[in-house]
Amino acid sequence: MTAGMEAMDDMDELVVEGGSPLKGSVEVRGAKNVVTKLMVASMLTDEPCIFSNVPSIGDGRLTQAICQSMGMRCRQSSEHVLAVQTSDIIRSDVPAEYAGSNRLAIMLLGPLLHRKGRAVIPAVSGGDRIGPRPVDFHLEGYRMMGANIEVRDQAYLVRAPQRLKGTEIILPYPSVTTTENLLIAAVLAEGKTFIRNAAIEPEVMDLIMFLQKMGAIIDYNVDRTLAIEGVKSLGGTKHEIMPDRIVAASLGAAAIATGGDIFVKGARQADMSTFLNALRRIGGGFDVESDGIRFYRQGELKSITLETNVHPGFMTDWQPPFVILLTQAHGISVVHETVFEDRFGYVKELQRMGADVGLYDTCLGRLPCRFASSNYKHSCVIKGPTRLHGADVSIPDLRAGFTYLIAAILAEGTSVIDGVHHLDRGYESIDKTLCALGAKITRRCGSYASESSAVTAKQ
Ligand code: EPU
Repeated sequence: MTAGMEAMDDMDELVVEGGSPLKGSVEVRGAKNVVTKLMVASMLTDEPCIFSNVPSIGDGRLTQAICQSMGMRCRQSSEHVLAVQTSDIIRSDVPAEYAGSNRLAIMLLGPLLHRKGRAVIPAVSGGDRIGPRPVDFHLEGYRMMGANIEVRDQAYLVRAPQRLKGTEIILPYPSVTTTENLLIAAVLAEGKTFIRNAAIEPEVMDLIMFLQKMGAIIDYNVDRTLAIEGVKSLGGTKHEIMPDRIVAASLGAAAIATGGDIFVKGARQADMSTFLNALRRIGGGFDVESDGIRFYRQGELKSITLETNVHPGFMTDWQPPFVILLTQAHGISVVHETVFEDRFGYVKELQRMGADVGLYDTCLGRLPCRFASSNYKHSCVIKGPTRLHGADVSIPDLRAGFTYLIAAILAEGTSVIDGVHHLDRGYESIDKTLCALGAKITRRCGSYASESSAVTAKQ
């Protein structure tokens, strides 16, 4: 989104010289999983909205391009401030070229149905390959609010000849984007909508705060029920995007895994308390300051048993960077993934780098798990500490990508990492950020894979 900021090419590679502990200070920007949804939600009004603390990341640029193709106009007034306005929605079909690119196309249903009465959404949903990623909960919610849905030519053809109607929706699982999608629909629906078993992640709460500023009426209860009183129209507003707690935790894990010390400016304790508890249990050091959190190694790390879960549980997105941290802990750690069935795909490459990690399709934990009788390897056992060595690895998804970077930085020798464009989706200038913290990373640009200017390390 920040004009002029370079994006990583599909063919870029990172060459990482291992063995440098990360030290210094870094600032975390707004959350990917908020800014993208807020851009879509802003299309509920024809008035301008202004976002600050906007990260310069690939998924932000992609969402902006999708929204612009539907009629949104954008103006970047300074590096991290973006003004958007959709005076008119100029088409009701999301261009097929955006099929499969990220999870955002399906979220355009709300603005399109409220302002155009119809929507055509490519049926190939996107996002990281960490499980099947269906959209059945989304579609069922819209059906219950009165939309007609047909599948035609690999697209969902959705019609709402009349205003969507409030109803009671009980989600089979507290899905984050389903909750957000139905919130965006319900704020302008006729009457009251109840979303039960809703996701209550801080990112969902940030969307609720934004919608409230636009004029929406949303109550939330401790029993995961959101009650939305539909209003006739919404207006423009300003909003500062909450800091990205996944990026903050990734950097914290990197500091401790490499035996370093990083101050992450902007990291917020309230959003990360479950992560901080896990750090404390394994003996990782952290200090909460008024403007951020310092993460540091304080002696030997201990093993742990851990299960991912919906908020306020341990986030699934924290799992990959935490696993690499556990390869440096003494003893046997166990991690049970209960949110996405296929989120250990990155482990194979870590094994090649010397990590002692075994995968299991049984539930190695106590939480109720939807994957109990599946063949998905969704539990892992990590024996540590292990010395990692450099290897050539290929990034399969965003969070796995950062995990490989940490592994390569703490490994002995050189690693070459490709599939780097995945990283750009959610981490702003990550190679430069890590180099500024002492990592030795060189980017080989583009299809020539010729060496670009080495980014010099400065502590
Ligand atoms: N699910 C269904 N049907 C649906 C929707 C979800 O079965 O219609 C299932 C999923 O298959 C999964 C579970 O529900 O097993 C949870 O999925 P959820 O919908 O909560 O995930 P998401 O909304 O697709 C968002 C983030 C993810 C993050 C998860 C969990 C965005 C764009 N993505 O995904 O972020 O891991 O919530 O917190 O907000 C990332 O940033 O790298 C990332 C993957």
